[in-house]
Amino acid sequence: MRLGCQGVFEGKVICFRHFRRQSGYRETESTGEEMKNMFPADFMWGVSSASYQIEGAVKEGGRGESIWDRFSHIPGNIYEDENGDTAADFYHRWREDIQCMKDLGIPAFRLSLAWPRIFPEDEYRINEKGLQFYEQVLLELKKQGIAAAVTLYHWDLPQWAQDRGGWANREIIRWYSLYCLAVMQRFDGLVEKWITFNEPWVACFEGYYTGNFAPGIRDFSTALLAAHNMLCAHGEAVNQFRNRGIKGEIGITLNLSPKQPQSDREADRSAAVRKDGYANRWFLDPVFRKCYPQDMWEWYEQQGVILPQVAEGDMERIAAPVDFLGVNYYNIDSTAACENEWPLFFRQGRHTFPNTIYNWPITEWGLTQLLCRLQEEYNVKAIFVTENGLSSIDNVQQDGTVRDPARIDYLKRHIGACAEAIRLGVRLKGYFIWSFLDSFEWNTGYLHPFGLVHVDRLTGKRTVKESGYWLRDFLAS
Ligand code: FCB
Repeated sequence: MRLGCQGVFEGKVICFRHFRRQSGYRETESTGEEMKNMFPADFMWGVSSASYQIEGAVKEGGRGESIWDRFSHIPGNIYEDENGDTAADFYHRWREDIQCMKDLGIPAFRLSLAWPRIFPEDEYRINEKGLQFYEQVLLELKKQGIAAAVTLYHWDLPQWAQDRGGWANREIIRWYSLYCLAVMQRFDGLVEKWITFNEPWVACFEGYYTGNFAPGIRDFSTALLAAHNMLCAHGEAVNQFRNRGIKGEIGITLNLSPKQPQSDREADRSAAVRKDGYANRWFLDPVFRKCYPQDMWEWYEQQGVILPQVAEGDMERIAAPVDFLGVNYYNIDSTAACENEWPLFFRQGRHTFPNTIYNWPITEWGLTQLLCRLQEEYNVKAIFVTENGLSSIDNVQQDGTVRDPARIDYLKRHIGACAEAIRLGVRLKGYFIWSFLDSFEWNTGYLHPFGLVHVDRLTGKRTVKESGYWLRDFLAS
């Protein structure tokens, strides 16, 4: 099939106006059943989660400390000094949660494994209890006919690994691959999709450059080094998966968003290209083109940033062919030039799009644009949206319901945007909502509930929100 967006991008970051003109993009007006029919029958619908955000039980089952335990217990790091000690208590309530997924007719569940549950103290000793926990969960999912998509790394690095330099120590490629090997062999046949990493940009740049996230380091060159090691570790895991003949498919999840210049000024436009290079292409190019983006490499050199040492064979390893790309999409990103923000010289731009109550722009068309670009520029074999969703203040009403119309509206818009991408010829194979449960949302603590299911902070009691029932009806249609 000819791709509707073919020739639109030509290697350039383009604004949506241009994309809309060139691609034949149509706003989706259909809803419900009609919209569902726009997806192929084998399209994978699911919900997403991550270990540290939902499990709790941080000291149970022989689990070791993670960098998020350490980081969240330092006063001032997290909104209201919250932490994931209990989170949504999935560690104890997983049966009930899987039953709820089953009742809602949800076909797939994306969860992550906590590395410190499996390797609590070093890269050698495996904690059998940690493996058993995930094995029970995966067996139950299988029994209920729910497909498992497993993220191997969703940011909860064991503290022992951080004490030895974390992602800035090249040795971590070996530690990570020992961990991957252990879990891939043990859970072989129980997992349909393996995801090596969730959002390496966030893990490396929020963790090692801005310091907003664990481990809280603030050094740009260290972040670039962490990213290089993480990309090598990704490639290593893909190779292991192939060499050992593990069942299922493997890919990586990136957080990607179109970078829109705040204005037509040349300075803003080149700032948007730089931001695209910094956050999108720095990961896409190595994985799909076996190289770092040259414009960014040169830019960093000019700015006096220390670039990572690329050893022989690194780029080949990073570019080991993946079966799919996972995309986490929430909104587009407005970018403006800024003179005093070394080394990238941009800042968050203003915009006039509708906003969520937390000031996140609602820009579903950006998802269509992004998916088209990924297929056209990177010729990605298959794409899954592995996260998309909305946070809002959701309270349980006196009648026991939780009304979240804004979330339903957001989901409809974005599912429509996926349908439009498919219509334009994109090989989009699945869509996962962030999130199944209200979760610990990193440095914002519990301020941003994204769940289809409300979790009472004191009792852990679950209440399916209206969006959860909407999804049930949508899936059943
Ligand atoms: C993404 C993370 C996920 C969740 C959402 C809201 O960046 O991957 O864990 O916190 O944001």
